[in-house]
Amino acid sequence: MKTTFKLNALAIATLVGSVTALSGCSNDGNVENINAEAQSKTAKIWPKLSIAVKKDPVIEAKIVDYLQKMTLEQKVAQMIQPEIRDITVEDMRKYGFGSYLNGGGAFPNGDKHATPNDWVALAEKMYQASIDDSVDGIAIPTMWGTDAVHGHNNVIGATLFPHNIGLGAANNPELIEKIAAITAVEVMATGIDWVFAPTVAVVRDDRWGRTYEGYSEDPQIVRDYSAAIVNGLQGRADSDFLSDKRVISTVKHFIGDGGTVDGDDQGDNVTTEQELFDIHAQGYVGGLSAGSQSVMASFNSWHGKKNHGNKYLLTDVLKTRMGFDGFVVGDWNGHGQIKGCTNESCPQAINAGLDIFMVPTGAWKPLYENTISQVKTGEISMDRIDDAVARVLRVKLRAGLFDKPSPAKRQFSGKTELIGAKEHREVAKEAVRESLVLLKNKNNILPLSPKQNVLIAGDAADNIGKQSGGWSITWQGTNNKNVDFPGATSIYSGLKNQISAAGGKAILSADGTFEQRPDVAIVVFGEEPYAEGHGDRDNLEFERGNKKSLVLLNSLKEQGIPVVAVFISGRPMWVNSELNASDAFVAAWLPGTEGAGIADVLLKSADDKVQYNFTGKLSFSWPKTAIQTAVNKGDENYDPLLPYGFGLAYGDKNVLADDLDEDSKLDNSALTNMNVLVGAPVAPWRLLLKSGDKILDVSSSTHEFGAIKYRTEDKTVQEDARQFDFSGAEKASAEIVTSFAEDTIAYLEANGVISFDIKLNDELTNDVVLAMTCSGSCGASIDLADIVDKSIENEWQSVSIDLGCFAKQGVNFASLTSPFSLRSNGKASISVANIQLVPNKADEATLSCK
Ligand code: BGC
Ligand code: BGC
Repeated sequence: MKTTFKLNALAIATLVGSVTALSGCSNDGNVENINAEAQSKTAKIWPKLSIAVKKDPVIEAKIVDYLQKMTLEQKVAQMIQPEIRDITVEDMRKYGFGSYLNGGGAFPNGDKHATPNDWVALAEKMYQASIDDSVDGIAIPTMWGTDAVHGHNNVIGATLFPHNIGLGAANNPELIEKIAAITAVEVMATGIDWVFAPTVAVVRDDRWGRTYEGYSEDPQIVRDYSAAIVNGLQGRADSDFLSDKRVISTVKHFIGDGGTVDGDDQGDNVTTEQELFDIHAQGYVGGLSAGSQSVMASFNSWHGKKNHGNKYLLTDVLKTRMGFDGFVVGDWNGHGQIKGCTNESCPQAINAGLDIFMVPTGAWKPLYENTISQVKTGEISMDRIDDAVARVLRVKLRAGLFDKPSPAKRQFSGKTELIGAKEHREVAKEAVRESLVLLKNKNNILPLSPKQNVLIAGDAADNIGKQSGGWSITWQGTNNKNVDFPGATSIYSGLKNQISAAGGKAILSADGTFEQRPDVAIVVFGEEPYAEGHGDRDNLEFERGNKKSLVLLNSLKEQGIPVVAVFISGRPMWVNSELNASDAFVAAWLPGTEGAGIADVLLKSADDKVQYNFTGKLSFSWPKTAIQTAVNKGDENYDPLLPYGFGLAYGDKNVLADDLDEDSKLDNSALTNMNVLVGAPVAPWRLLLKSGDKILDVSSSTHEFGAIKYRTEDKTVQEDARQFDFSGAEKASAEIVTSFAEDTIAYLEANGVISFDIKLNDELTNDVVLAMTCSGSCGASIDLADIVDKSIENEWQSVSIDLGCFAKQGVNFASLTSPFSLRSNGKASISVANIQLVPNKADEATLSCK
């Protein structure tokens, strides 16, 4: 039998009443707990917002009614958000989750090419299961949330707009509202209710892998845009708010994600509280005032404390002081990162003010069960649960989810023609045109006559995946081909259409070779797609250690061909050499599916007129060196290569000469050893075991896992070494990995080695290898027998290997995912300790590859 925690009507009426009176405070005693002095300090920094969406007494009464009827189990289910890869429709029927999501690159039936109707069919089944009260006894519609962060980017054929960094350069809030309204329509066409956007990070260090998800380094644009996006997604509070053309929005990630130390994804923000408000909170001022109904908590910490567990920020500041009365959703198992929590259990987050756990993986079930028992034991108060559920229900009621037809019957559902509709693409093309920033235009080489012979070179020229970046069909934006973007236009095909129509000739040649000498070359190149921490970099040098684009630019220049560079990137980068090699240079950011917007600006019309001028201005300062990673308008001694707001128009005087300093200022002399496993794996590195296809994250001091046995061992001090016994029953390995690739190229450049202590506990057979892997499918391996002294058994020996040996085999040290893996198909017993990357030791290495 289910335990029911029923509050009497009066208690709940008082609860909801006090929620109204305190503008969203969670009535769990927190208001009393903040002393007067602290309250007045908070009040000085954080304003009470004037929020466009007001409380509606009818809705509030319904909430009271629901809370009275609901069991504890039903309430907790409203707070659990699993992912489509981890639940079935039957789970939805049984538990009645308040919401669910598809992560980046998760599709109905696991089918990348799922049609809009497949999306609608899943939405319909989940909805019907949620309102089926036969098992869970209640009929509350669920809602589906998705990352439509630059258009409905998980769906094949959708219109993909420029990523936010490009929209920031356009600085046009009206256009942004249109884009959001279109995104809402394409999302509605797939039966989905809710979008995890806008990202309102104010990005302060461009090494951050999510830089392109930010509109600007300056809070002003972010604040204006946040309101515009929220208005576009949800509809304006005073007109068609959350009507059948609109979706729920989420302002994310609360708070300070763009200001972590070293631009580290999910890292620590150590700004003062005043700066937290002045710089990082402005998107919340804009978006919440416009009435955004949800906020996503951020993975990052503030002064060492994870935001998901920060009651001061989530409850006192956001809800109580600013007056936010929607719900706070967590980020991808973000609660599990709070000290003392796991993905499966985390009362701390709820107590801090999180209302919905985003809980992908199988963790949802134990989390649901543990949360229920934590309420029973009093670790979580029933008032807190009621407050969280009241917030979820308030948003559902405001969005009309109880009254709207089911997903399949909504006005846009299944209207395939809306996905990537021509009018939508026209708006995206307009956004592309407005996002382009002209950095250099020597001798006014641009605009180009389309009547010439134009060579179109570079690996991004005809590559829609590359021009779209991360969060494009797949999470990282990788593994896509042009055919995965039906209806889209590559930069090359946009140019070619106009050049051919005007009587010119467009020749596509990625590597820049040609038979007939061109009059001019347009070279399209830039960063490979990435998302989140995978995009974190050590510094801002473009193509460090592999200057392939520069080689291409220089070879054209040497042949006397004028060069127009179109640079695709998710951030400003140090490209002085590439700028020197180009006559004109355009920062195109990540334009998305409408590559033709670039031709509109670069090319004149057939009758020799400017079609569209450049209007984009840098919303991020452009760095002068590779180490000028945190250069922001308003800094003391502000000295970028090109300042915030820079952007040439046709006819403007060119400012960049061809002799920019080509010294990156990167200095490896201060490089210290990188500890990989010293005592224990050192973050971000962790140890896992693989046997056959199975993987185990090492979590205790011994494991028996398929063909591999593991235990800690004492070398110099207690448990500072690791022993691995391979049984030979199947292929097995011990791997030191990181979730996000690390940029370790400095160690390669600094003549580095990987060094470690190793002990052979048995005779070494030849089938043990030491491997390294990097992002994509790159990697290399070396036979252990070639580097250790096989005659020494049961004694420690020190080994070091020149990193160049791995680089020669193709390891890309800029995105290393595993520096050390032991693999074997056979029988072996090996112990290791003290694994490090060490600079300046290649000449003395056990194995050198110079
Ligand atoms: C990201 C969020 C995103 C979520 C769901 C997280 O890793 O930080 O921005 O909404 O995944 O895909
Ligand atoms: C998933 C994505 C998700 C991301 C969030 C990845 O592991 O595959 O779908 O959006 O995590 O961090």
